[in-house]
Amino acid sequence: MQLHIPSFLLFFLSFLHYCSAAITQVPYDPSPFATSGYINAATINNQSDILSGGTITLDGVEIIIPHNLLVNTPSLTAVAWSELFNSNGQINLPLWPEISWEAFVFANYIGGQYIAGIVYIFQEIGNLNEGFITSIDYDKGEMRINGDFSDPNSVGRYGMVHGDWPLWTADTDNPSIAASTGFPVCLPRVDPAVGDDPFCPKKNRPLDTNGNPVTKFTFSAPPVADGQPDPLLFVPLTVGDFIIYSATLVEDQNGERLFAAYTIDANLGFYTAPGTM
Ligand SMILES: *[C@@H]1O[C@H](CO)[C@@H](O)[C@H](O)[C@H]1NC(C)=O
Repeated sequence: MQLHIPSFLLFFLSFLHYCSAAITQVPYDPSPFATSGYINAATINNQSDILSGGTITLDGVEIIIPHNLLVNTPSLTAVAWSELFNSNGQINLPLWPEISWEAFVFANYIGGQYIAGIVYIFQEIGNLNEGFITSIDYDKGEMRINGDFSDPNSVGRYGMVHGDWPLWTADTDNPSIAASTGFPVCLPRVDPAVGDDPFCPKKNRPLDTNGNPVTKFTFSAPPVADGQPDPLLFVPLTVGDFIIYSATLVEDQNGERLFAAYTIDANLGFYTAPGTM
């Protein structure tokens, strides 16, 4: 009797053969390697060494983090590997491992090992999202996006104050919280109905003839007169603005979860006077 091997199995076997041929014959060493994936594990070699290396495992592939390598968080470009670990040598990321964390790694394959050169770390593909600001809690420095006013647990809420996780903030030196035109925007630290935040002043969000905050504006050249919109200060966000944001899900002191935004692109057209800045 003739042995009958289904054609798909033959295909599979030849594919396996192809794979094993491919991995035993690295055409040159070192060779480049780039990957993105879920972080399964991360280790540190020497906790007393701030510039220690370690390993990161992405979708089962272990990659060596060499000594001295500085890695990237969404808005910081020079984070020592050791800063991502707690004093027990455990990886320490907001809501890890319940919430998935990912990395992009550009590495070299050298002598059978993957050695990282550039590493980007972020939570859940950056939690990129968008929506309208439906309410702002000025005391907490939080706003709700596409939220139901009456539902305190509706998703899409995020805060600007989250000092527990300094590695996952916005880049404050090169504001990543801005209007689409690049003009920095802010969330007032005081409710504009009761006061004014001098660094996020009401005057920088003029009202139109119907009393609504304008969404397009061109500042006068500085220095401006007292009380006039000032292009040297930020533009306050307000309820009704449409924003696109990237954020890290964190837990506050009360165990409430919120998105800590590190990038906001507000759909606002604020310009400086031509030729001034
Ligand atoms: C760990 O790092 C510390 C500080 O740099 C160093 O003194 C020590 O020798 C290192 N330990 C090992 C095992 O390399």
